[in-house]
Amino acid sequence: MKHLFALMLGVAAPLALQAQSLVPLPQHVTMGKGQFRTDRPYRVEQTAGQVARNPFNHLDATATDRADVKRVVRYVMQPASDSKPEAYNLHVSPDTIVVSAAGAEGFMRAAQTLQQLTTAKGVACCDITDAPAYAWRGVMLDVSRHFLPLKYLYKQVDVLASYKINRLHLHLTDAAGWRMEIKRYPRLTNFAAWRTDSLWKTWWNNGQRHYAHQGDPGAYGGYYTQDELRQLVAYAAERGITIVPEIEMPAHSEEVLTAYPELSCTHEPYKQADFCPGSVATYDFLENVLKEVMDVFPSTDIHVGGDEAAKASWPTCPLCQAKMREEGIKDVHGLQAYLIAHFDKFLKDHGRRLVGWDEVIDPTLPAGATVMVWRGVDKAREAISQGNDVVLSPGAYCYFDSYQDAPPTQPEAIGGYLTLQKVYGYVPDAGMTDAERAHIRGIQGNLWAEYIPSTAQNEYMLYPRALAIAEIGWNGTKEKNYPDFYRRALAQVDWLRQVKHVNAFNLRHEVGERPEQAQPVKHKALGAKVTYNKPYHEAYSAAGEGSLTDGLRGGWANNDGRWQGFIGADCFDVTIDLGKTQGISSVACDFMQACGPEIYYPSAYKVSVSTDGQHFTEVYNYTEQSAKTVQPNVRTYAWRGKSVQARYVRVQAKPSTFGGWIFVDEVVVK
Ligand code: ACM
Ligand code: ZN
Repeated sequence: MKHLFALMLGVAAPLALQAQSLVPLPQHVTMGKGQFRTDRPYRVEQTAGQVARNPFNHLDATATDRADVKRVVRYVMQPASDSKPEAYNLHVSPDTIVVSAAGAEGFMRAAQTLQQLTTAKGVACCDITDAPAYAWRGVMLDVSRHFLPLKYLYKQVDVLASYKINRLHLHLTDAAGWRMEIKRYPRLTNFAAWRTDSLWKTWWNNGQRHYAHQGDPGAYGGYYTQDELRQLVAYAAERGITIVPEIEMPAHSEEVLTAYPELSCTHEPYKQADFCPGSVATYDFLENVLKEVMDVFPSTDIHVGGDEAAKASWPTCPLCQAKMREEGIKDVHGLQAYLIAHFDKFLKDHGRRLVGWDEVIDPTLPAGATVMVWRGVDKAREAISQGNDVVLSPGAYCYFDSYQDAPPTQPEAIGGYLTLQKVYGYVPDAGMTDAERAHIRGIQGNLWAEYIPSTAQNEYMLYPRALAIAEIGWNGTKEKNYPDFYRRALAQVDWLRQVKHVNAFNLRHEVGERPEQAQPVKHKALGAKVTYNKPYHEAYSAAGEGSLTDGLRGGWANNDGRWQGFIGADCFDVTIDLGKTQGISSVACDFMQACGPEIYYPSAYKVSVSTDGQHFTEVYNYTEQSAKTVQPNVRTYAWRGKSVQARYVRVQAKPSTFGGWIFVDEVVVK
């Protein structure tokens, strides 16, 4: 009995909470008193068209057809106050629910809101006028680095649709495995879809990066058949989600170029990541692939990748060089732009639209192409200035492979630190003019899966951060209120975990930012002049010359502008001038370790002091054997001893025994 009660509570509580915790928040919502009871008889009426009868509206299932019943759910086909196709209005009172929209898309979004308003007994009373801020509200799943089973994709469609996400971008191809059946090129799926290690990290780092044949002992991988994908596409479409396929070109294609080496410049397997854009065979192959892709995916938008091409073999490839001469292309970037423009036209000729990562930006990129921005807001500006539309998914706000909480408390991730609050804080159109704003199609969260080997981990990284994308994408950013969003997200996390069995990160247990960074630290070297006996690296300059004595401590993100980076032998060597000779008894530095970006704790830490700046006395010389750790963390190296007289303090540190970077935020002298 006790058991049963707990079980009921477990389900009922998140449902009731969810009704007060809509995500995304509608544009205009007034919550009323009481609810439309669904455990008492009610009828369903519709004023026009079959389209209004939404099969996913759970209210239809329990309605009666008794004509004498007064309580009614009414679907009204009429343009909403907003002309966007997803706009809808909703009125819920104890005896009437009125849902109005101009068509199927609006009724779909209304049904999703109704679902969130539903408690165990009914639907919470309210009045809602609603329409999306952005037309593209996307999530990307990387099914190449670790294959995701179909069942998982169906589950994500259900969950993402409930938050009005309307694009599911599948990163179907990459070095780690090709994931879509292409009938014309069977080696893509009986060979390039399989590899020798199940863990991406082992496979990528063991030096071999070998593929395997389907069925080989230990072969890891998988792919979706065209029929499986068609069914998934249809299922998603019924829930208002368009699946956008991505086929990478010209780079991230090691798997293709090992299965079909004749498509690379050197024709050697296991040597090339980039297609040969000088070869006719490349265009034939990619066109044939895209024809099958278009046959399976009705999405107008087809993503062709375009990111991170090293183009290493192009300058010496006779075919590439001939192509450049023929077309009057002056450099290898132009050669990539040529290939992208070719496929833009090819897709356009088939009634589709090209989407590419922001490396596709080029004066020759046709205006109809959409740029998916991943590097930074300047890339959005650049694309827009050339007349292209953009979908914004900058790494700093939208890359869900980053740690979402204090890294030492989290399972291993690729690096970074991206909290729910930071995602929520993103303003896609910050500083843009209205004309620029008009080119923003929407926003997207991307979940790269190098470090995400399981479905449980995938969900953990996706939720609740995908909710922030849903919120910004639908509600916009006019009224940011993190405490309110956080409250709603907590309720949604309970619902996800308890009702939908989604392994969402439990936001209630969030540890948060490194406490040291919240308050400036007071110490004797505050504001003191620092002489860099070896320079800091310009890419990680933090606040420049004053950074190590500005009192500001770094947080969990190594690129937060507070960590200064050094690289090379004996690379950390600074002398601090305290201004006058005084007694000091401690010199401490915090160093970061984050193995992904090759930032390691130093293997040696030395402190020397001087009163004249010429003659230094060593007071501390510490060395250690370096060790790699899984999660990023921060450690203090310190000399602490009897007070000595000093005006100048010299601190030296050597890189780890694996080399790599040294990151330090402050030299604290006491
Ligand atoms: C990307 O992260 N290379 C798009
Ligand atoms: Zn070539």
